[in-house]
Amino acid sequence: MDTAKLKETAAQLVANHKGLLAMDESTATANKRFSEAGIAQTQAMREAYRHLIITTPGLGDSISGAILYDETIRQKTPEGASFVALVEKAGILPGIKLDLGAKSIPFFPGEKITEGLDGLRERIAEYVAMGARFAKWRAVITIGDGIPTSTSIELNAQVLARYAALCQEGGLVPVVEPEVLMDGTHSLERCFEVTERTHHAVFDQLSKQGVLFEGMLLKPNMVLAALDCPEQPGVEEVADATVSCLLRTVPAAVPGVVFLSGGQTGGLASARLNAMNVRFRARLPWAVTFSYARAIQQPAMDIWKGEAANVPAAQKALEHRARMNRAARAGEYTADMETVAD
Ligand code: 13P
Repeated sequence: MDTAKLKETAAQLVANHKGLLAMDESTATANKRFSEAGIAQTQAMREAYRHLIITTPGLGDSISGAILYDETIRQKTPEGASFVALVEKAGILPGIKLDLGAKSIPFFPGEKITEGLDGLRERIAEYVAMGARFAKWRAVITIGDGIPTSTSIELNAQVLARYAALCQEGGLVPVVEPEVLMDGTHSLERCFEVTERTHHAVFDQLSKQGVLFEGMLLKPNMVLAALDCPEQPGVEEVADATVSCLLRTVPAAVPGVVFLSGGQTGGLASARLNAMNVRFRARLPWAVTFSYARAIQQPAMDIWKGEAANVPAAQKALEHRARMNRAARAGEYTADMETVAD
């Protein structure tokens, strides 16, 4: 394991108040988002959309790393430039989604385990040869009646640690994503309890399997009330609960915490991230930043609508959301910045 290189890459991903852009939707998820936005669900459209993203002027000022999907990391422009080269040209490190999706766990209704370990060592070597520097694996934990069980938390923690160890062996910084889902009606307190249990299990397994904390990033959910919970906490309450939970569970040796947005609006995802950095600035042992997909991409996708003429406006919207989140990472975000024309 090249410890120095892993540490350097992990530190680079969270330096200068930047964060990650997740643009690694599986084909099924990308098509679902396209269908909701009225865009044709074709390979050509996915390619055009991702080309729009990676050629957005100024994106590298706010984004340190872009997580790509297998289809994208292999794509080239008609002129023959690889998408990886375009990402690098923008000053952004290329990353790759390694998991192959979450499947039902037999005999544990409503719970899922993420697949993709078979052949992973070889896939990592192939992606490293293509230029990938870091990777992502998403595990999902669902809150519901009697769930999550400790079995599903343990299984997902073991698999996340297997993935992380294989990444580090092969030279990729693992972004470890145990996502406690926002679906349902549960309270913020319930999300806190499940997120805490999950992080304890994940770091226990990472430690048992020899993962270098300095050479990884954690991609957690914020501690939130579920989308359909009648009592929605304020921005500061979310920031306090989230940071309290992380301080209890995430070793100080981990260089960065990069949140997923999980269905929050772009504005809320920025405001909550900002509140964490404002309220806890001096007490945070790790960089607290973002690895959003929807909270950065959604306005751009809605503007684009699959039309070439809309590319400049869509790119402007994308760059704006990326910049808002960099400001939030610095604790300098205000709602006024959303309305100021720039
Ligand atoms: P969202 O920010 O849309 O939740 O996506 C982040 C991600 O990469 C989920 O795996």
